[in-house]
Amino acid sequence: MVRIGIFDSGVGGLTVYQAIKSTLPDANFYYCSDNEFHPYGTKADDAVAQRTLDVCSRFVMAAELDLLVIACNTASTVALGLLRSKLNLPIVGVVPAIKPAAEKSASGVIGLLATPATIKRIYVDELIQRFASDHHVIRVGSSRLVELAEEKARGSVVPVELVREEIKSLFVDFSRIEKSMRLDTVVLGCTHFPLLRDELLQASPWPVQWIDSGSAIASRVQNLASGLESKIGKSRDQGTAWVTRKDSSAAQLEPLMLRFGFRVLLELPRPDQLLD
Ligand code: DGL
Repeated sequence: MVRIGIFDSGVGGLTVYQAIKSTLPDANFYYCSDNEFHPYGTKADDAVAQRTLDVCSRFVMAAELDLLVIACNTASTVALGLLRSKLNLPIVGVVPAIKPAAEKSASGVIGLLATPATIKRIYVDELIQRFASDHHVIRVGSSRLVELAEEKARGSVVPVELVREEIKSLFVDFSRIEKSMRLDTVVLGCTHFPLLRDELLQASPWPVQWIDSGSAIASRVQNLASGLESKIGKSRDQGTAWVTRKDSSAAQLEPLMLRFGFRVLLELPRPDQLLD
């Protein structure tokens, strides 16, 4: 059975994992959260790219992966080229779903809600230029929402008021200038944000379509996985979830990881431990 690794800076990758698992229920899944370096969305591009490579190299070895999913927009939009040049396995990245959002928007006004790093990426400029050049795109970067999603995953209740504060600048109404020109579609360009879907719905001043990349990634992974043979045989394995630092905050994630079907939550081995 093919061994699929899901990587993110935190718990956001679980939203991508869910989408992939629903199309490939029999694959073996492994998860890696780089909680030690989290959050990625406030860090410099080079630092994120190098760190993603370091941690993913260890993850690929520790889990003996056949396929790696970078379930983090912030990492994918800056590190995919580097990862593909250094790691010898198929790699699928997650980038903001600008194209489907542009296709679905009737008003021509779409929002991009992502981390502060992602909204500034050249990769994102190019996506908008290519697929939404005739649309008005409102970009909002928020790290606070990433933290709120992390807190929710650890069992906290997220006040809708805090979410409303973070998304209010998305909801610009141009309809006074031109009738029907009002935001109607928002791209969730950070994998943490679907974890706050209920709060986002409640916090919106008017209804919009929320688009994430989960199902597109799931069908890409399904296609790739159908052509892969596992390097280490056919056995079924209830996978391991790793964190890069097993501190008390990471330990609070244990129940969630077990609920999602992982067997155990461990600290990712360091390079010297992997060579033994
Ligand atoms: N989940 C990540 C993403 O999709 C980012 C979270 C972070 O800032 O670390 O961009």
